[in-house]
Amino acid sequence: MAKIIAIANQKGGTGKTTTSTCLAGALQLLGKKVLLVDCDAQCNATDTYGAQTEDVCTLFDVMTRQGTVEEGIQHCEAGDILPSDNALKDIDEQLVRDMGKNFRLREALESMSEQYNYIVLDTPPQLGLALVNALIAANSIIVPITADRYALAGLSQLSQTIGDVRRYFNPTLKIEGLLLNQYKSRENLSKEVVEQLPVIAQSMGTTLLDVKIRPSMGVRKAQAERHSLFSDDTAKSTSAEDFKALAQKIVEEDKNGKL
Ligand SMILES: Nc1ncnc2c1ncn2[C@@H]1O[C@H](COP(=O)(O)OP(=O)(O)OP(=O)(O)O)[C@@H](O)[C@H]1O
Ligand SMILES: [Mg+2]
Repeated sequence: MAKIIAIANQKGGTGKTTTSTCLAGALQLLGKKVLLVDCDAQCNATDTYGAQTEDVCTLFDVMTRQGTVEEGIQHCEAGDILPSDNALKDIDEQLVRDMGKNFRLREALESMSEQYNYIVLDTPPQLGLALVNALIAANSIIVPITADRYALAGLSQLSQTIGDVRRYFNPTLKIEGLLLNQYKSRENLSKEVVEQLPVIAQSMGTTLLDVKIRPSMGVRKAQAERHSLFSDDTAKSTSAEDFKALAQKIVEEDKNGKL
């Protein structure tokens, strides 16, 4: 059965899309079958994978039952993706009168459960039906954070959202951990924020993950050239090493039944 991991933080620009695409790539390197679902109307993951958005079935069509996941999945060079297009920005209005509006993604992904080992959900920074559907469909969440002064604001919003989702919809939703992204160990400001993070993680019922993602030009190059971080010269970047370590940890802990 596929494990569904949402990559979420209600603060923008913390590395949700980067984590989603690179973790999906790193899990594939370990021989896992992975589906990436782009739940963000900004379509950054879709763009990074070089997926089509014109005249194709996208997540919006799946959530509004105009298409199926099977119809929507595209097999790109970087991996399998259910893409998004700009229409997703109107999903809240589209489903406003729909009784099952919070469960559309969970229902849709049920049919994929035997075909993939992992389903990774890239989510938007703002709270709306796309994020709520992702958190209800997910078994667990990874929270990418950057060590800046405003890092903690997004976390308190996310904690509240996760609390509500657990209370009303998905009581077993687990936070796998906070993932420090673009981490520069020598920066004083980073150190200050990083020192606070274990306590904050504990208050959210989780931990700061040991694996930290260092920044690298490889990430930006792979995104700009629309290829996997693990192909070409970017495969040797520090971020690639770190994402491989993250994938390894996830797979090992799943094997040990810890997650
Ligand atoms: N480890 C990294 N090394 C270098 N650049 C990075 C790294 N992680 C993220 N970035 C860059 O930081 C920017 C923000 O990253 P990303 O788009 O993944 O964040 P996001 O949380 O998905 O943003 P949004 O909230 O808008 O969806 C991007 O330009 C990305 O290339
Ligand atoms: Mg993003």
